Amino acid sequence: MRLLSLLASLLVGVLPLAAAAPEAMPAPPGVSYLYNANITVGLSVDVGQIPAGNVSVIPVIGGAVIGPRFSGKILAIGADWGLSTPQGYYYSDMRAQIRTMDGANIYVQMAGMMQGNDGLIYIRTTFQTGSKDYWWLNYAFAFGTMKASGTGFVVDMWHLTG
Ligand SMILES: *[C@@H]1O[C@H](CO)[C@@H](O)[C@H](O)[C@H]1NC(C)=O
Ligand SMILES: *[C@@H]1O[C@H](CO)[C@@H](O)[C@H](O)[C@H]1NC(C)=O
Repeated sequence: MRLLSLLASLLVGVLPLAAAAPEAMPAPPGVSYLYNANITVGLSVDVGQIPAGNVSVIPVIGGAVIGPRFSGKILAIGADWGLSTPQGYYYSDMRAQIRTMDGANIYVQMAGMMQGNDGLIYIRTTFQTGSKDYWWLNYAFAFGTMKASGTGFVVDMWHLTG
């Protein structure tokens, strides 16, 4: 009896490990680099203190995007509606508008938070465009990092590939 329960407790300890063995996991998706962007910003507008923290709106006034599949400029449309919490987190909620060198208009929504003191904001990103050439962006699973620079933000963006 003792031996049986000892065996049982051993099995309970061993089984979850077996279930988590690497060979049981699906192959991870690939990651492709999408672009580097320099976003230039204007003077921020203070919304003030809301229950969650302080909100300020940082307008996007321009910028550039360079990547392996498209490059272009950032139009003076959009902003980062940022929330600074009393715990020291910064939540970014940015909308911007890319115009590619071949004239496609791409609406970009980025959201994420700064969670450490490395100054990096980890962002999830979605795109909308009617362009046939960049249609794949509508369902791209994209993510990146954003960091404050002297003139605005520097962004690096990736997306998952199959
Ligand atoms: C952003 O600025 C950096 C530093 O000046 C530069 O190396 C990079 O090429 C710029 N990126 C774009 C998209 O213009
Ligand atoms: C929010 O703004 C108020 C008033 O300027 C300031 O006292 C407070 O420290 C700010 N809080 C955060 C989390 O930035």
